[in-house]
Amino acid sequence: MTAGAFPFEANPNPVDDARRAELLADPGFGRVFTDHMVTIRYSDDKGWHDAKVGPRAPLTLDPATAVLHYAQEIFEGLKAYRLADGTMALFRPEQNARRFQRSAKRLAMPELPEELFLQSCRQLVEVDQHWFPPVEGGSIYLRPFMIASEVFLGVKPSAEYLYMVIASAAGNYFKSGAPAIKIWVSEHYTRAAPGGTGAAKCGGNYASSLVAQSEAIRNGCDQVVFLDAAEHRWIEELGGMNLFFLFDDGTLITPPTDGTILEGITRESIIELAREQGLNVREERYAIDQWRADATSGKLVEAFACGTAAVVTPVGSVHSTNGSFTIGAGGPGQITQQLRGKLVNIQRGIAPDPHGWVQPIG
Ligand code: PLP
Ligand code: COI
Repeated sequence: MTAGAFPFEANPNPVDDARRAELLADPGFGRVFTDHMVTIRYSDDKGWHDAKVGPRAPLTLDPATAVLHYAQEIFEGLKAYRLADGTMALFRPEQNARRFQRSAKRLAMPELPEELFLQSCRQLVEVDQHWFPPVEGGSIYLRPFMIASEVFLGVKPSAEYLYMVIASAAGNYFKSGAPAIKIWVSEHYTRAAPGGTGAAKCGGNYASSLVAQSEAIRNGCDQVVFLDAAEHRWIEELGGMNLFFLFDDGTLITPPTDGTILEGITRESIIELAREQGLNVREERYAIDQWRADATSGKLVEAFACGTAAVVTPVGSVHSTNGSFTIGAGGPGQITQQLRGKLVNIQRGIAPDPHGWVQPIG
């Protein structure tokens, strides 16, 4: 199939204006959903077919549907923004489309053509554009995902798939609204190993991270940082964000993407913006003991996490069974705020977009 506009069926019972305004006043993250969703089906014999935008509704799945047993599932996360001039745009959506294809390949799933991915995101935002929250930093978070939909219990790649996009009004990812987050170091659990699925955005990675995330929450932290699986020493990433470390000589380090961490689109954008402002950006391994030593000596001055949902979030302190340490003064660092400002201003059409990252909708 080709990517003209998909057939559209309006939701006969959309959320009414008053209730929507109430929901949009403080949407938080991931709880307030729009009225419509995209579905496209795939089967080995028909290929991609039956694309549509219809009312958002529960799915009916046979209990033997493959995804429910073997977790053959992938997803993406990207945001639509209302720009300063009132138009709407997506941020680097082609990068999400390509990462979705890479994730599909790793999970033995069919690759959705880039144009279908882009059309599905654009069309859903157009249809549900009255769901942009009027709050500071408000956006529509799109969640494209694909599940193995064949009804079969044999362990093999499914012969049928369902691709969907749902949309959610988004404010702050972190509920506390604190200026900097607390990180818990997971000493027992790892997220990904060489040859595994760490670089794919598949639900299984998140399922296996949850026990560590609960440990973080039990210890009063917001997110867990995972170390490498072989030596339990090298910092990889957080449960849902990439990490950066800034030093007093203007060096910015981020762990390399060599198969065990997600190739974050925010990460890549920050690398470019940081280089443009003269920072010496290096993609190299950084050890947890070194992080503690450098934070204590003052050589490490700032650290931040980044991702679509979290944007750029300062890391204030790091906690583990070996004790805690604080980064800088424990609040947002100056360079972190500068980089965040640069990124957000491009995303919202406030600053020029020399990289062509902002893709208009409509
Ligand atoms: N790492 C993980 C594990 C994530 O879930 C995410 C979020 O998507 C990221 C990093 C950041 O990726 P991106 O900047 O593309 O959102
Ligand atoms: C995102 O930032 O889009 C993520 O996927 C992180 C998390 C919400 C899973």
